[in-house]
Amino acid sequence: MCGIVGMVTAGRDMAADLVGGIRRLEYRGYDSSGVALLNGKGIVVAKDIGGPSDLVGKRTFEGLHGSTGIAHTRWATHGGVTQKNAHPHLSCDGQVAVVHNGVLSNYRELRAALELRGHSFKSETDTEVFAHLIEEKLKKGVPPRDAVRASVLELEGTYAFAVVIHSQPDRLWALRKESPLVVGFGADRTIIASDPLALASFCPEVLYLDDGEMVEISSDGAKVWKIESGLSVDRARCKLEGDFAVPERGAYPHFMLKEMAEATIAVRTALCSDPNAVTRGAEKLLAAERVFFTGMGTAYHMAIFGHQLVAQWAKRFCPVVTADELPGLVFFEPGDLVIGVSQSGETYDTMRAVRAAKSAGGGTLGIVNVAGSSMARECDQALLQGAGPEIAVLATKSALSQAVVAARLALEAGRLSGGLSKERHAELLAELNGLPALLDEWRPKIERDCQEAAARFLGLEKWFFLGRGLFASIAQEGALKFKEVTYRHAEGMAAGFLKHGTISLIDSEMGTVIFVPPTSAGELRAMTIYALEEVRSRGGPLLAVGALNESDRRHVDAVIGTSGKGELSDAFLQIVAGQYLAYYTARALGRDIDRPRALAKSVTVP
Ligand code: G6P
Repeated sequence: MCGIVGMVTAGRDMAADLVGGIRRLEYRGYDSSGVALLNGKGIVVAKDIGGPSDLVGKRTFEGLHGSTGIAHTRWATHGGVTQKNAHPHLSCDGQVAVVHNGVLSNYRELRAALELRGHSFKSETDTEVFAHLIEEKLKKGVPPRDAVRASVLELEGTYAFAVVIHSQPDRLWALRKESPLVVGFGADRTIIASDPLALASFCPEVLYLDDGEMVEISSDGAKVWKIESGLSVDRARCKLEGDFAVPERGAYPHFMLKEMAEATIAVRTALCSDPNAVTRGAEKLLAAERVFFTGMGTAYHMAIFGHQLVAQWAKRFCPVVTADELPGLVFFEPGDLVIGVSQSGETYDTMRAVRAAKSAGGGTLGIVNVAGSSMARECDQALLQGAGPEIAVLATKSALSQAVVAARLALEAGRLSGGLSKERHAELLAELNGLPALLDEWRPKIERDCQEAAARFLGLEKWFFLGRGLFASIAQEGALKFKEVTYRHAEGMAAGFLKHGTISLIDSEMGTVIFVPPTSAGELRAMTIYALEEVRSRGGPLLAVGALNESDRRHVDAVIGTSGKGELSDAFLQIVAGQYLAYYTARALGRDIDRPRALAKSVTVP
């Protein structure tokens, strides 16, 4: 992953602004960070372990000045989390500095060859080869832009690069292949960044680089070329649209807690978005020969949620496959539709699946939160969630809003296909529209129950999260939240699967969270209760989520209560329960809640 920023100003010192830029990209990784500045005498690099905010706290970037520079916040892929592996990386002679987001697959061969030619490497990263390749070409007298282009042509893999060269202090080069890059134009500066968030405060206008393009920027503009052919590209700038204000944490101890409290507004916004767009999406779904739901992490779980509802309401089976596997499993055809779900709209795997369908002539529909993201721009149609910026690495309000958009799509497909009767459609619509009020009513109770359960079960190190039908995706999502932030093992599973082997692990030290559908779910509830009893009879500690009657309560150790009014609405409350349970357990364990170890919010590498 990683976030990169590069800036060229008209002779103005911009070191602080550059650091401010990578601070805004911390969601992309915070293992280490660094900057390289051209200060008139040479390239000065400051880098260390820790995210940009940590390094600002340690005053690592203090006393640095320059009017051209590049910066990086890292999520480690190649090479451990060390000061030496932090970006930027320099050539042997210190005349070239590079930062990189992506993965180079042929770096070992290139490095071996460069070492034979006398280059010495300071890091274990894949990135460093690029600085040395450029250095070699510059030494042969190749002009900087051509040296950068010729060097990148030797690389295989994915990248967004930014490069500065000492001999041309008023220029900066950036190049992309499958990792995002945007160029921003301000009054006295030009900026490149992984995400408009890093440049929004300076740049009212932007230009999005396409795959396979490179840009040369100076303080007063930018020139774009195709990397492969070297031909120049004429691309108009566009106005930067969207809300890029960085939210404040306010009185909340963590962004995660704040964002969970914002769920009601996120759900309300998702309920209000353009109904015609939802109808167009549902028409596409019904017209397609084959439909695949896809996503990664939380978004994948919300894709499962969507596929469940489409199956129930529109009577269409639309397989759901994780995006990393989908392109390898499906030979896409023009009649296909891929429905990609992604908060960031930049997840590498999800975008790869979407692009695979698109390049085969298939349709693409995105359920996406970030307007202007790759997914929002590249899909035939994007259903924007409008959940607002989500800062905590763990997806919370965005998950609920994805579930709302997916439910609206399924409901409309149910109406158009005749899968739902008029009466049932009206009932479900009313249930969906009642969600904001229900969330407001139940969130405080759920939060209290979760806090108590977290304290009570704190000693348990291993967990199963079980659910059936729609509630299987909620169990999987609950387990993901739990492990992401508590660092405790949690396995989410369809409850019916438990008895087929896994049950051998149940004992007094293996906790189980079971997500119980309301009575209206009929057989689904009854079968979930069977699983509950199977765990009980083997002495496993049991925490149930749902509306349990007195007799069921006797079989469990604790309950996180929900309204039980309807299957659909209870599913949303149970997603919320999974989030608060993870939060309060992590808090009791003293975890770094908004920045869990080894994670990043947006994973833009294979
Ligand atoms: C990473 C994050 C997950 C997130 C997933 C998908 O794995 O750690 O929390 O759910 O990416 O992100 P997206 O932006 O595509 O929803």
